[in-house]
Amino acid sequence: MNRKKTAEELRSHRWYGVRDLRSFGHRSRTKQMGYAAEDYQGKPVIGIINTWSDINPCHTHFRDRAGEVKRGVWQAGGFPVEMPAMSLSEPFQKPSTMLYRNLLAMETEELLRSYPMDGAVLLGGCDKTTPAMLMGAISMDLPTVFVPAGPMLRGNWRGRTLGSGSDVWKYWDEKRAGVIDESAWEEIEDGIARSPGHCMTMGTASTMTAATEALGMTLPGASSIPAADSNHPRMASASGRRIVEMAWEDLKPSDILDERAYDDAITAVLALGGSTNAMIHLIAMARRSGIPLALDRFDALSRRVPVLANIRPSGEYLMEDFYYAGGLRGLLSRLEDSLNLDRPTVSGRILREDLSGARVYDDEIIRPSDNPLQEEAGLAVLRGNLAHDGCVIKHSAADPRLLKHTGRAVVFDGYDDLAWRINDPALAVDRDSVLVLRGAGPLGAPGMPEWGMLPIPEKLLKKGVRDMVRISDARMSGTAYGTCVLHVAPESHVGGTLALVRDGDRVELDVPGRRLELKVGEQELEHRRTEWSPPEPSYGRSYGAIYARHVTQANEGCDFDFLAEGPAVKEPEIH
Ligand code: FES
Repeated sequence: MNRKKTAEELRSHRWYGVRDLRSFGHRSRTKQMGYAAEDYQGKPVIGIINTWSDINPCHTHFRDRAGEVKRGVWQAGGFPVEMPAMSLSEPFQKPSTMLYRNLLAMETEELLRSYPMDGAVLLGGCDKTTPAMLMGAISMDLPTVFVPAGPMLRGNWRGRTLGSGSDVWKYWDEKRAGVIDESAWEEIEDGIARSPGHCMTMGTASTMTAATEALGMTLPGASSIPAADSNHPRMASASGRRIVEMAWEDLKPSDILDERAYDDAITAVLALGGSTNAMIHLIAMARRSGIPLALDRFDALSRRVPVLANIRPSGEYLMEDFYYAGGLRGLLSRLEDSLNLDRPTVSGRILREDLSGARVYDDEIIRPSDNPLQEEAGLAVLRGNLAHDGCVIKHSAADPRLLKHTGRAVVFDGYDDLAWRINDPALAVDRDSVLVLRGAGPLGAPGMPEWGMLPIPEKLLKKGVRDMVRISDARMSGTAYGTCVLHVAPESHVGGTLALVRDGDRVELDVPGRRLELKVGEQELEHRRTEWSPPEPSYGRSYGAIYARHVTQANEGCDFDFLAEGPAVKEPEIH
């Protein structure tokens, strides 16, 4: 180990090591918890930030994993301290976990700052928990290792494989179209989520944990291990051992997360056919690292990175198959020419060394670059008068027939309006219509929920229509699919052009040309703008009021303006 710090230089020394009245309290209160001086004296204190919760099904194993991280910390001569943090449970938290991502980021940062931590292990994985905890840890900049929750096992129904999210939408549409009955639907409910772990399709969770590994913030190979596999607890205890070394080495996120790291994370996301949500989160994380990452970087890399992972919703398989096929290390070994291999990771080595010996065991699941799933990666950034600051589409999961399309708008004002009218037999809509949802952005909804995969009207479903062009200022679940234009910025709530669209307006989508245009003259738009008035704010008090005052638009990462930048925060005084 390349030791840079002495015990006296550890941050925790200020709490434990000095001889004064306050440090007496810290020591005596640690003894109150049953620890002897030999347990903590002169050792790095490692904060294990645990997002376990009784209402987060993706993190049910985190009590065990925290214990396994502790085992590693003790073995390596550290002092582990487990601390609970808000669990952002994707299925249950309303109106959207995205509303609370920045709250967990703040909590993570302040837990690490206000207590005597020398290093951190972050236990997360369910969608927003990963970016949230990393954003906080980046801003605090203590040595940090991320322990990803790991994907759950494949779902199963009558011998058929079921994938989180993707197969829910698919069989819901089949049920609405009368293809499957209620008892089949109930059996799917029993079989789709059958172990601990996060969604096992290439949704936001798998995308963000893989991005975190590609950034260099997990041990090599960590993100692909299924939660139920015994390699997972072994990875957790190895992370515990490693963070103690990192605390002595003083290897911090700022030593790891440079522009090259973010490029490599984007490259990994693209080759995985990853979630559009990654664009928001990586922009927010990069800006916390002081790197002005913008949407266009995703588009530029997208044109040269092929999709190699054959995982739903873009492909056929699931994360468990991906792990057996070689996992993320296998995939990255096939992208070596596109990666920055000489940069450091939490392993204490460089990425090239982390990938040494990585292999692919199944070319159908992790494709070679001369036989990709898609030549060009799946994420495109569009601009035009309907999205001056940009919007995104995951075209790898869209019907290719619709990627260049002009149709008449059918406009919905918020989710209630959508739910109320979408299946009305009298709705003036056909297969060429463009469904538009507004009032679903960071401020509008609020919290930018995953409403972007607007349902296909039932009368069209029955005619066999399975995809249409859909446009919104919402996000979309990474497990969702379809020709869905998302993250329109500026959103309608702040007066973006989306607020001015009317039923029957022609809308032109041109993914190859990266354009999204409302075919209405500037004079008419100006007239509509004078008639428009901003909606009432959603919150008069509470956290929601802080959120509404400070959240940025999707193209800027939806971070709070006062967290994204500003002078360094001082260490707390101890008196
Ligand atoms: Fe937790 Fe999908 S619900 S990752």
